[in-house]
Amino acid sequence: MASTDIGIDLGTANIIITLGNKGIVVNEPSVVAYDKKKQCVLAVGDEAYKMLGRTPEYIVAVKPLKDGVVSDNEMTEAMLIAFIKKVIGRIVKPRIILCVPSSVTDVERRAVVEAALSAGARKVYLIEEPIAALIGAGVDISKPNGTMVVDIGGGTVDIAVVSFNGIVKSASLKLAGNRFDSAIVKGVTQKYKILIGEKTAENAKKEIANVFEPTGKKITVKGRHLIKGLPESVEISDKDIYDFLIDEVTEIVDKIKGVFEQTPPELVGDILTSGIILTGGGALLKGLPELISKTLGAPCYVADDPIECVAKGVQKAFKHADELLDGFEKISLYRYK
Ligand SMILES: Nc1ncnc2c1ncn2[C@@H]1O[C@H](COP(=O)(O)OP(=O)(O)O)[C@@H](O)[C@H]1O
Ligand SMILES: [Mg+2]
Repeated sequence: MASTDIGIDLGTANIIITLGNKGIVVNEPSVVAYDKKKQCVLAVGDEAYKMLGRTPEYIVAVKPLKDGVVSDNEMTEAMLIAFIKKVIGRIVKPRIILCVPSSVTDVERRAVVEAALSAGARKVYLIEEPIAALIGAGVDISKPNGTMVVDIGGGTVDIAVVSFNGIVKSASLKLAGNRFDSAIVKGVTQKYKILIGEKTAENAKKEIANVFEPTGKKITVKGRHLIKGLPESVEISDKDIYDFLIDEVTEIVDKIKGVFEQTPPELVGDILTSGIILTGGGALLKGLPELISKTLGAPCYVADDPIECVAKGVQKAFKHADELLDGFEKISLYRYK
């Protein structure tokens, strides 16, 4: 790997960028603020995140990747170019490996690749997310041994069974971390008649949620009372959150089960031995591995640093760019020369 090689995990919630052997140099929200009057990017990442919902009319602050798809092509490109330029500095023509959500269409993939090229890349590779996730989790995917990975991000859950450098079975669900947050907002509204913000809901999820065995932990959240119209606080418990999230979580578990049912029996045997690996920020939802494991009867564990796992895999994938060309071509959906 050259010291100028750039790896990018372009997630719906976060964009994580690695540079050469340095490791992660950017880990910021996938947000862009754009000045419509001057037609230029004002800020990206952390800085733009602060502007969400707080901008005057001529400035747009958006999350351009929604539900795992590129909801705004132009803004996605603008954001990507701004981030790459930030990292490149004086680097001339780097190689870039990009990982995009698996539900992104070919047209959108091409747009992202073009954006990387116009930001100054010499060569751009795309890598599939489950492959990057497994490499990042330290799994040797070149063996004819089945491994199952479930990546739970902000917009999508991506499930894949990988063997021999390739994806054998996969499925994607447009329901993940963001939907958990909106389910909590909805639940608190219905039960307590208080409207809380998505960020407050996300915080409660991270602090006290437990989707396997809620223990009675509590957190105070602030919002606006729907009838009185005034600010009000309410204490919610992990049992409340369990009730608000259980439908969504069950849908995820059912989807994993569906993939199991379509997987060749030999590989199912491998997975029962080696277990299901969870990656992505949603893997940190407490109780989830236990719930999956109990429902499906297969061991399930969270990869080290699940949020950074895909980015680490992208960084490591540069090793395979030349030596494993066949395998790599199989896993890179779009190779730009
Ligand atoms: N401790 C936690 N518990 C539950 N969910 C978490 C936790 N930390 C992060 N998340 C959730 O993980 C999601 C982001 O995961 P990430 O893998 O970065 O997404 P993406 O790849 O789509 O950018 C968000 O919905 C966030 O709320
Ligand atoms: Mg991701």
